Amino acid sequence: MVVTPVDPAAAPAPGTGLRVRPAAAADLDAVVELRLALLREYGHHAVYGRLHPDVEARAPRLCRQQLDSPRDAFFLAEAGGRAVGLLRCTESEASPLLLVERFAYLSSVYVRPGYRRRGILRALLGAADAWCRERGIADMRLHNVPGGGAAAAWAAVGFDVTEEVRIRRRGEP
Ligand SMILES: CC(C)(COP(=O)(O)OP(=O)(O)OC[C@H]1O[C@@H](n2cnc3c(N)ncnc32)[C@H](O)[C@@H]1OP(=O)(O)O)[C@@H](O)C(=O)NCCC(=O)NCCS
Repeated sequence: MVVTPVDPAAAPAPGTGLRVRPAAAADLDAVVELRLALLREYGHHAVYGRLHPDVEARAPRLCRQQLDSPRDAFFLAEAGGRAVGLLRCTESEASPLLLVERFAYLSSVYVRPGYRRRGILRALLGAADAWCRERGIADMRLHNVPGGGAAAAWAAVGFDVTEEVRIRRRGEP
């Protein structure tokens, strides 16, 4: 499936050969590779930098389960047949006391360094938008590290900051 971004103005430049499609079970290796690359890029982060010693063994098991889950969708961006970007969308529930009870949680969002600033995040988001529309989901939420490129990118594609996540660490695990 080739996904057309919702906003045509957001489409990657013609001729970039970019293709966005849902990931399937056969894409497990690419999903794992991109997900681990994302975590390693945040090696100094208070949460994402604390990788389990056997993360290489755990990641395929976790990703396989999530690829099989009907509440999850992974979208892969490919350029020249190579997986260069990833985005995961999870149908999630908020408190039943709130008006918006269901939302899509975005995670595992990663574009290979050499492919950044070419509209790949926008294209992945177009696929996620279509997935949400099919499910009648209006809101998307995510966590990101403050400051830096990711925060600027999320702001550029329309995501506002609505809370802060705090951590208090008491020693190493
Ligand atoms: C954040 C990330 C996914 C952006 O992907 P990308 O494919 O480069 O983003 P796009 O090219 O689609 O850009 C989308 C918008 O964000 C802006 N943007 C992207 N990177 C930016 C940066 N480093 N600084 C400022 N703006 C940026 C673009 O200018 C564009 O806005 P515009 O169309 O108004 O110009 C990518 O940089 C990445 O993988 N970073 C490392 C992993 C990470 O932080 N993931 C997010 C975890 S929450």
